[in-house]
Amino acid sequence: MKFDKKVQELVDSYGDWWNHGFDIPKMTKKLYPYTHLFSPIKINSITIKNRIVMGPMGNINMCDETGRPNAKMLKYFEARAAGGVGLITSGLIPISYGIDKSLIELGDLTYFPRIDRSRTVFAGWRDLAEICHAQGAKFFIQLTPGLGRVGNPQCLITQKKFPRSASNNPSWYIPQIPCLRLSDHSLKKIVKNAGQAAADAKASNIDGVYLHGHEGYLLEQITNPAFNRRKLGRYANYEQFGIDIIKEIRKRCGAKYPIMYRIDLSLALNETYKDTMNKTKSLKKFRNGRSIEQTLKYMEHLVEAGVDIFDVDLGCYDNWWLPHPPSSMPAGCFLEIAKMVKEHFATAKIKANSGLEVPIVGVGKLGYPDLAEKSLRDNKCDMVMLARPLLADPDWPNKAYRGENEDIIPCIGCQEGCLNEFVEGGHPQCAVNPRTAFEEELSKEIPPADIKKKVAVIGAGPAGITAAEVLIKRGHTVTIFEKNKVIGGQLLAGSKAKIKYGIANYLIYLEHVVNKLKATGKLTLLLNTEAKVENIKAENFDSIIVSSGAHNNKFPIKGIDNKNVFFAVDVLINPQLVKNYNKIAVVGGGVVGTETAYMLAYEFNKQPFVIEMDKYIMNHVCTANRGHIIHYLQEKDVKLYNMTRCLEMKEHSIVVAQNIDKNVPNPYITWNPILPENVNNPLAKNPKDKYVTKELEADAIVLAMGVSPNCKLYYDLVAANAAPEINLIGDAFKSAKVHQATRAAYRKARSI
Ligand SMILES: Cc1cc2nc3c(=O)[nH]c(=O)nc-3n(C[C@H](O)[C@H](O)[C@H](O)COP(=O)(O)O)c2cc1C
Ligand code: SF4
Repeated sequence: MKFDKKVQELVDSYGDWWNHGFDIPKMTKKLYPYTHLFSPIKINSITIKNRIVMGPMGNINMCDETGRPNAKMLKYFEARAAGGVGLITSGLIPISYGIDKSLIELGDLTYFPRIDRSRTVFAGWRDLAEICHAQGAKFFIQLTPGLGRVGNPQCLITQKKFPRSASNNPSWYIPQIPCLRLSDHSLKKIVKNAGQAAADAKASNIDGVYLHGHEGYLLEQITNPAFNRRKLGRYANYEQFGIDIIKEIRKRCGAKYPIMYRIDLSLALNETYKDTMNKTKSLKKFRNGRSIEQTLKYMEHLVEAGVDIFDVDLGCYDNWWLPHPPSSMPAGCFLEIAKMVKEHFATAKIKANSGLEVPIVGVGKLGYPDLAEKSLRDNKCDMVMLARPLLADPDWPNKAYRGENEDIIPCIGCQEGCLNEFVEGGHPQCAVNPRTAFEEELSKEIPPADIKKKVAVIGAGPAGITAAEVLIKRGHTVTIFEKNKVIGGQLLAGSKAKIKYGIANYLIYLEHVVNKLKATGKLTLLLNTEAKVENIKAENFDSIIVSSGAHNNKFPIKGIDNKNVFFAVDVLINPQLVKNYNKIAVVGGGVVGTETAYMLAYEFNKQPFVIEMDKYIMNHVCTANRGHIIHYLQEKDVKLYNMTRCLEMKEHSIVVAQNIDKNVPNPYITWNPILPENVNNPLAKNPKDKYVTKELEADAIVLAMGVSPNCKLYYDLVAANAAPEINLIGDAFKSAKVHQATRAAYRKARSI
């Protein structure tokens, strides 16, 4: 197997990145004013007003049934354009209907916007381009030749057609399903479609096209020997398909139309999985990925064919935490990759056909103005791409320009609102910005209330603070009751580990919001104050919002009250609690349990292991987020026991019942996703109940068995008629995620 030294170094550093030169980022403004970020750049015939590119994010379900961009999509992009970004890119827009069978759902529908339907859809694109232009932003459309093996294999059932790929490759979702080899004829058809889509984009006043050549999508499946093992025909040369597409676009759009190409410098599969690549059937075929050297050569040929600008990252679906770096990955994770390409192009004197240098765009958790500016000043890249940071805060560029960094809402890397929402059937949104992708419905200015009210908010977690902010903007006066001495609720424990720096920054942001609200004179924040029914009732509030969070579950298990048993949230806040213990059993393999194990292993050199009753560790968590944690837990030899129940806790051990059936899934599988529960996989093998009792050595036991809503106060307030209107939101309503809490708080508060 080939290994690229640089890729290996990077991949090896992503577990304890803080020991490998990556800083814990903050919204500081040491480098303000951001002279490099806010300088123009030329791409072929157009000039972009600054160095900020909005990263492509699938506009899934943001179009009407024909694929025409709808009001949701238009307003969503308008908000980002008005926020000051120089170049906006759309999410992936397929151009291979009829060829890539995975694009179509039952009823011949698709959730993707389309540009391949001529006049039926053009109006939406024309409007979108003009909306961006009016705000001073340029707009590129991202064209994708398709999904191939990473598309939904349900086409096998709904259309009786196999999914397709470059060669006979296993489906990413269900590896038992083969994706069949596309013919040269089909690929040539896609090349023609690319030219037509680009010509239509140009005619629609779209400023450039952007090829979706990374992450193991179909374009990369054909242009990477890991997936393209064809021996015969035009596309046995893995570079040919990409080059043909670029040439066709040039032929249709002329020399001056900008073409951008997204590429990963390496799939980083061998470097990620090492010997597992040899042992795992569904990975084995992919061992011959493009080396850095091959990728650079391919990029040179793409430039000769007509590419003007690249952005570069690492990885693919099978190590999804690379192209979709989650909360636990370092900020600026791919800057070294961009720098490498930039240096190579400079040394080899590669220029675009326009005569200009080929700008290299850096991507990957760059949403911190100092970091973004520094990456430009240090010549690591020519532009910075911000994807999720612009979901969290569309006004990021304007705020950075004005030096209002503390007002920037930081992305927390959870991928709950963005990726997971559409994976589960919705459209992209954001956990920390409830307006994102609802701009068509929720005006930016919060409308004033007709009747000004005196409102009590119980709990100063994200739901309570979001609600208080909206209520005060509506003209109400608010009193927050918080039983802790600080704000933050559940986020407090969730912000302590090094890999949770996103939450730590969000907490700083929420404190800033609270301080601003206090300065209006309309907010009273009562810390160390437990809300009691009689006190609340006596104050005659017009309205009450109960956002009193959740409490830790504790089940009646023998030994659970022993002195060596702790709650994970307490350990996260005060790791000293377990300083005298080494082997630590973490009971509960959800986010809290696994992240606690991660912190104990990586920051405190302990030997944790994780016990989880469910079939999967970190079930219902975004595949990228769980992949990173699980992979690097394995790298640190942290043992994961799924389908394992805790029976008894002792002083030096834990007694468990473990299912040892052969169909219990390998808990370390990160190269395939867990299918959503509403997807019926006829090929799934269900484990039988084959539990055996085991006693595992453990000095201490940490409980992460989930939480339950703190809703009693709400029902007591209702029973006592404590105010004319009483509402229950956040974890106190249903223990869920930040996303659900802020979304409910924002909507409810707008209606009071
Ligand atoms: C919700 C979501 C959708 C995405 N869709 C696309 C896409 O359509 N095309 C693409 O090339 N990358 C896509 N990406 C990857 C992003 O463009 C970007 O590379 C990644 O989020 C890392 O950048 P960031 O840290 O600035 O978010 C998507 C990411 C997210 C979060
Ligand atoms: S949902 Fe989470 S990861 Fe996605 S943009 Fe919002 S804060 Fe960032």
